[in-house]
Amino acid sequence: MAVEYVTYQGIKFPPAYNSEQSLRFTHKEFQVQDDDVFNVTYPKSGTVWMIEILSLIRSGGDPAWNRAVLNSTRVPWFTTRLGLESALSYPRPRLLTCHLPVQLFPTSFFGSRAKVDQAGCAWGLQYRAGVTGAKVVYTLRNPKDVLVSYFYFSKMCSSYKDPESFEQFLRDFLSGDVPHGSWFDHVRGWMEMKGKKNFFFITYEELQQDLRGSVRRLCQFLEQELDEGAITSVVENASFRAMQENKMCNSTLLPKDIMDQEKGTFLRKGICGDWKNHFTVAQSEAFDTIYQDQMGGLMEAFPWGAH
Ligand code: A3P
Repeated sequence: MAVEYVTYQGIKFPPAYNSEQSLRFTHKEFQVQDDDVFNVTYPKSGTVWMIEILSLIRSGGDPAWNRAVLNSTRVPWFTTRLGLESALSYPRPRLLTCHLPVQLFPTSFFGSRAKVDQAGCAWGLQYRAGVTGAKVVYTLRNPKDVLVSYFYFSKMCSSYKDPESFEQFLRDFLSGDVPHGSWFDHVRGWMEMKGKKNFFFITYEELQQDLRGSVRRLCQFLEQELDEGAITSVVENASFRAMQENKMCNSTLLPKDIMDQEKGTFLRKGICGDWKNHFTVAQSEAFDTIYQDQMGGLMEAFPWGAH
């Protein structure tokens, strides 16, 4: 069946999960709580990985919750119709996830932060636990690897158009004509928040290189102290292998008409640099030219910038 994307403010979204109404509601009316923690990504950047990490940290390293409860319930996709229901009935403090570009993120988030900023200034207060307001963890990944992962994901997920070819998908990705919009716009938009106390930026590549160190930094940001034993448990239970074996996060429980496991695997390869197995030299050069043009000075800020 042909897939018709939902469009909200010029950006396409997959139809099975989103409606214009649900996107408008989350954008304009969703009430952010000061203790909310948001997991934000462009698709295929490590969203479900960060869901596992955040829920393991929340449970002090105990894997019981991750093993018993679906990831979409532990950290709901609050922009989707079902996810919104879960988010609204979620006891505080909430863990929430989305792929929203910054301009479509709940406006109440920025309102609440502004209030906190003003209070901080007026009373000369130092930021301390509990006063920085809602937090955002933004994970980003080498866009060439995102593209490859997105290409395979689009083939197996019924809510996405099956790409005609890798070449065509590459063109669509570079022009931003894919669900959730342009990777370049998404990353540039969110990067404007860099340096603000309630934002934490991390790359998929950093998670790969040093998961333990990344978990430590996340705990600090989330103001959640975990001892070394608990951190070891987070690292072990958020490993690619452990996640592949956990039905609560490996997507195998999704029905075939949503995700066809015969057409691919959600936890596909879990490596950095798979783009080298897919891009021709000409495609890579064309990509680099557009990347340089779109990202300009931000280029070197990322682990893949120099390559
Ligand atoms: P690949 O398709 O390259 O394997 P998202 O959750 O944003 O949709 O991202 C999915 C990508 O993250 C997939 O990439 C998946 O394999 C990878 N991933 C998920 N969990 C991972 C883990 N624990 N370690 C490494 N990669 C992981």
